[in-house]
Amino acid sequence: MAEQTSGDPLFQSHDPIFNRKELLHVGHVPDEDRIVGRDDEIQSVAAEVGAITRGDPPNNVMIYGKTGTGKSLISRHVATRAQNAARSNEIDCAVLYVDCSEANTETRATRQLALRLKEQTEYQQNIPLRGVGTMEYYQHIWRILEDCFDAVIVILDEIDKLDNSNILMQLSRAREAQKTDTYIGVIGISNKVQYRETLDERIDSSFGHRELFFHPYDASQLREIMRNREDAFQPDVLEDGTIELCAALAAKKHGDARKAIEILKEAGELARRTGSETVSEAHIQQAQEVAEINRIEELTSGATVHAKLALYALASRIITGSRETYKTREIYERYVGICELVANDPITENGLYRQLKEQAFLGVIESEKTGGGRSQGSYLLHRLVTDPKHIVKAVRRDSSLEELPTYDQLRDTTPSTTNRDLELDSFS
Ligand SMILES: Nc1ncnc2c1ncn2[C@@H]1O[C@H](COP(=O)(O)OP(=O)(O)OP(=O)(O)O)[C@@H](O)[C@H]1O
Ligand SMILES: [Mg+2]
Repeated sequence: MAEQTSGDPLFQSHDPIFNRKELLHVGHVPDEDRIVGRDDEIQSVAAEVGAITRGDPPNNVMIYGKTGTGKSLISRHVATRAQNAARSNEIDCAVLYVDCSEANTETRATRQLALRLKEQTEYQQNIPLRGVGTMEYYQHIWRILEDCFDAVIVILDEIDKLDNSNILMQLSRAREAQKTDTYIGVIGISNKVQYRETLDERIDSSFGHRELFFHPYDASQLREIMRNREDAFQPDVLEDGTIELCAALAAKKHGDARKAIEILKEAGELARRTGSETVSEAHIQQAQEVAEINRIEELTSGATVHAKLALYALASRIITGSRETYKTREIYERYVGICELVANDPITENGLYRQLKEQAFLGVIESEKTGGGRSQGSYLLHRLVTDPKHIVKAVRRDSSLEELPTYDQLRDTTPSTTNRDLELDSFS
């Protein structure tokens, strides 16, 4: 064993590639001077919650934007700065962060808030982990806030994952309802536009809030973000042009900083695994491929069976057809045939359309309106943002869908005639 360990480059005392690898970890919160290209966003968030630092009531704010645009990072960053600024004005300000993709019910979210508050204070009362309802957790929250804090910033990240929005109302009405005098500012974060559309129906006017939109990063911002973490690598390990290539690839896809950083890290891992002394453009290209498969798997693993079948239907049309884009109707026809293959009852065409829309927002597909005027002849064309091969692979990972034809099988069934776009026999 000892021999193996010393022979494994992974366990060398000196890492030939990475110097401070933690800078590239997903959960890493960079220092202020490593945050790039979000000055306006930082200012905007600060403008909404900043009143707290002067002892005034803050605004609630909802932040929307695609994945990897710095929403979580900037929110935490501004909240922490506000807390420090408040402290220097002798205002006791708490910052509470809840990841609603984990704490996805009101009970879980309020329990987490109560426990976090207790951690930060001398609060003596026991807060039960189970067996009590939301109301009891609220009681603890109000009591701790009332006793210990002048203000609190509550960050509800991935707020669309919460099963209901009552917590927003409770937090925004707390003062009015005389539960506590503490000023409460909520920062809600979501990468779902659909959430925004339904938010007004979910909440009443008590949750008055501003909206901010974070845009994807462009290549030069991504370059800057990565340059600022270059010291994650040993000196001279990154070959010239690698960061530029990585930024260009990530910008072309989605302007997602997380992906850009992940590709850089994966490229480093690849270099190390293959015993290379430097990270080259080829490593970046290869890492991008791996990252793309991971991304698709991540995105589709949480999707419903019908969303997966819809994606598979589109992928299979692209593989067997001669076009890159297909109408909802065309995808639906293929989808119905595929449902038969896996003995699944198809949903309606409109249902499928909604699934496609969701996937478009996630960034797996792109949908574009084409054709005639508003009333007539206009239709949506959908395309895959990724290689159809990845989709087929990811969808077939679902154990209930592994019977579906593989990429090679689909490709081999492609008629070599000019009628490549005709339905496959087995599908319709
Ligand atoms: N402006 C920036 N400067 C430096 N690093 C950044 C910047 N924006 C994002 N990052 C890094 O990119 C990663 C993703 O950012 P973040 O988690 O804030 O994205 P997000 O918008 O919350 O995405 P999601 O919707 O998927 O949660 C983080 O690791 C973060 O450190
Ligand atoms: Mg986030």
